[in-house]
Amino acid sequence: MQNILVTGGAGFIGCNFVRHILQHDSAANVIVYDKLTYAGRLENLAGVSERFGPRYNFVRGDICDTASVERTIAEFNIDTIVNFAAETHVDRSILDPDAFVQTDVLGTYVLLEAARNMGNLRFHQISTDEVYGHIEGRRRSVENDALLPRSPYSASKASADLFVNAYHTTYDLPVTISRGANNIGPFQYPEKVVPLFITNALSAMSLPVFGDGQQMRDYQYVADHCAAIHLILKQGSIGESYNIGTGSEMTNLEMVEILLEELDKPRSLILHVEDRQGHDRRYSLDVSKMLALGWEPDFTPEEAIRATARWYRDNRSWWQPIRDGEFKDYYQTVYGARKTYNETR
Ligand code: NAD
Ligand code: DAU
Repeated sequence: MQNILVTGGAGFIGCNFVRHILQHDSAANVIVYDKLTYAGRLENLAGVSERFGPRYNFVRGDICDTASVERTIAEFNIDTIVNFAAETHVDRSILDPDAFVQTDVLGTYVLLEAARNMGNLRFHQISTDEVYGHIEGRRRSVENDALLPRSPYSASKASADLFVNAYHTTYDLPVTISRGANNIGPFQYPEKVVPLFITNALSAMSLPVFGDGQQMRDYQYVADHCAAIHLILKQGSIGESYNIGTGSEMTNLEMVEILLEELDKPRSLILHVEDRQGHDRRYSLDVSKMLALGWEPDFTPEEAIRATARWYRDNRSWWQPIRDGEFKDYYQTVYGARKTYNETR
C-alpha cells in the first residue's frame, strides 16, 4: 500500500488529482494536507470521504510548519509527497509577493527537509511552464532549458525547483518535477482567466482582456494533467523533470471566442483593459518527453475550454458563493480602477 501526502489537495488541481488517484490506484491511500487559504475549499473534496472511506484522510495544516508536517508524515506512515501547495495567481503575486516566497519557497524547503529526515521519501514537485519565462518566436521549452522566471509567482516556483533538484544532487532524495501548462476544468477558483471570463459572461459582466489579447497559452484539461502526474509517479525517472501540456497554444482572444460561442454570449462583452505588469506573452512547451513515457492528452485546448464552460454553466452553486465573498474585494482591487487599453496607449 502506498501512503501519499497530497499537499494543497483542497485546491483546483489537487482535488482533481485526489479523485484521480483514488479512482485509478486501489493500492493508494491519500492524505490531503492543506492550509485552506482563500483558494483551498473543503467543498472541492465533497463526496470523496463517502466514496473512498478510510483510503482518504484530511489534515488542515501549513507546509511551512515543520512540526505539523512531521507529525502528519509519522501519523500516516507517509512514503510519498506530492506537493501542489502554493500561492498560484500571478496578479496576486504582483500585488503582494510575500505569501509566495513563504509558501512556494520556504514551504517547499520544509517539505524537502521532512522528506530527507523521515526516511528519504519519494518527492514529486508540481511546477509550472512559467519557470522558463517568456518564450520567443517558434521555440518550445525543453526540460533542461535555463529557468528565466519574470513574475514574483514564477520566481518563487523556479526557486522551489532549484531546491528540489539540489536535494536530489546533494542528499540523493528521490525526486521528480512536472512543469504544467495552464490547467482548466472543474473547481478552478474564478480569479484565473478561463473561469473568470466564463462566470463574468454568465453574470452579464464584461470580460477584461489584458492588453491586445495576443498573449499565447496552452490551455490543458486538468484531468489530462492529473493522469500525467500519476504516470510520472509510477514510471518517471528519478531526478528528472517533465513538461506537461497539449503542445499547442492559442491567443487569449481565440480562447475568449471559443468560450463565448459555447455559452452563446455576444462578443460585445470583450473589453480590452490595461495590461498586466511584466506580462509574459508566450509559454510553449515541448512535451515529447512525457509522450515518450506513454501519456497523451485526451482533450485539445478547444475541447478543454468548451468542457470547462459547460461545467461552470451547470455548477453555479459552486462558484456563486465564491464570487459573492472575498472575491468581490479582490476583483475591485485588480479591476476596479483599471484603465481601458486605449487609455494606456
Ligand atoms: P490553487 O490556488 O487552486 O490551490 C492551492 C492550494 O494550496 C489550496 O488548496 C491552498 O489552500 C493550498 N495552500 C496554499 N498555501 C498553503 C500552505 N502554506 N500550506 C498548505 N496548503 C497551502 O492552485 P492550483 O491551480 O490547483 O495549483 C496547484 C499547483 O499546481 C501549484 O503548485 C501551482 O503552482 C501548480 N500549477 C498550476 C497550474 C494552473 O494552471 N493552475 C499550472 C501549472 C502548475
Ligand atoms: O502556465 C501555468 C500557470 O497558469 C500556472 O502556473 C499559474 O498558477 C496559473 O495561474 C496560470 O498563470 P497565467 O498567468 O498564465 O494564468 P491566468 O489565468 O492568470 O492568465 C492567463 C492569460 O490570460 C494571461 O495571458 C493573462 C490573461 N488574462 C488574465 C486575467 C486574470 C487576461 O487577459 N485577463 C484577466 O483578467
